[in-house]
Amino acid sequence: MSLRRSVIIGCGAYLPSKVVTNADLARDLDTSDEWIVQRTGIHERRIAAPGEMTSHLAAHAARAALAHAHVDAQSIDLIVLATSTPDNTFPASAVSVQADLGITHGAAFDVQAVCSGFVYALATADGLLKSGAFSRALVIGSETFSRILDWTDRSTCVLFGDGAGAVVLDAQEQPGTREDRGILTVRLRSDGRYKSKLYVDGGPSSTGTVGHLRMEGREVFRHAVTMITDVVADALKATAYTVDDIDWFIPHQANKRIIDGSAHKLGITPAKIVITLDRHGNTSAASIPLALADAVADRRIKRGDLLMLEAMGGGFTWGAALLRW
Ligand code: ACO
Repeated sequence: MSLRRSVIIGCGAYLPSKVVTNADLARDLDTSDEWIVQRTGIHERRIAAPGEMTSHLAAHAARAALAHAHVDAQSIDLIVLATSTPDNTFPASAVSVQADLGITHGAAFDVQAVCSGFVYALATADGLLKSGAFSRALVIGSETFSRILDWTDRSTCVLFGDGAGAVVLDAQEQPGTREDRGILTVRLRSDGRYKSKLYVDGGPSSTGTVGHLRMEGREVFRHAVTMITDVVADALKATAYTVDDIDWFIPHQANKRIIDGSAHKLGITPAKIVITLDRHGNTSAASIPLALADAVADRRIKRGDLLMLEAMGGGFTWGAALLRW
């Protein structure tokens, strides 16, 4: 029996041009390249230019994804943008992208699940495409975390970067077999008891300010590997695939030690892990589509490959998506 599935038909990335290395940070901050690389695996990150906003980054990535998919913007009837750093409190940054692309039909909205945002956005778009309500979506992760960092706090500001990644998700009838292309399952989780472990100390309804990112790094670290491995195992169980079937592991890029710890616990070999953290830092909701676009651009990922995407972040939120390219 055939099944309507959401198939990724193109992906794209955009990074601001300004590169900030660990050595650059160490000029004004009591930190070092050695400390940052050893604790996180990050060497450098990109920082958006003054006036360059989340929706601008997103629109660049969206155009690259449309070009890669060889489809016109007018064929898009749904835009789901994952971000925790929108241009404004409202409207959603997704509608700015919609206007930028000249689209006046369909729907566009933002999803906020911090670093898990892209997996949440993918799940949302997948559900809407499968329902038959929409036929082709842009799913975007775009962030300007540089705007919510306390640049005097060395324990957080060295970790993050700005960027955007996007995919075009197309509703297609698949044979309904093990070999189907597209999203095979998405598993989402959250636990609000941990909301104070990683948060922004401002907002329209609390302080009336934008605020700065605050984090208990060790607490995040302590939970990350367990939460990630649990939800990945859940996704495998739901599809009856095993870890050996995975061709590419595309984790949220928060910290090399979290990625390695999760992969080790799951039994995924290092050669199958896509890493962009060294060059991008943690770009929150943008990190997975940025890593995906990287491995597609250099032709590591090939048609038919099985991909496991996973993320964990503020909330805590976490999730995993299994898909065939
Ligand atoms: N440079 C130099 N020293 C630093 C820096 C820095 N940038 N930051 C902190 N230190 C110091 C601390 O002040 C502390 O000094 P002290 O011992 O004199 O008090 C020492 O380093 C150790 O600090 P810890 O916070 O205990 O360092 P830890 O080994 O836990 O590493 C880190 C910190 C990298 C944040 C780690 O906890 C971590 O990776 N946590 C996961 C959090 C994460 O990646 N969050 C990203 C967002 S969430 C997500 O995307 C999943």
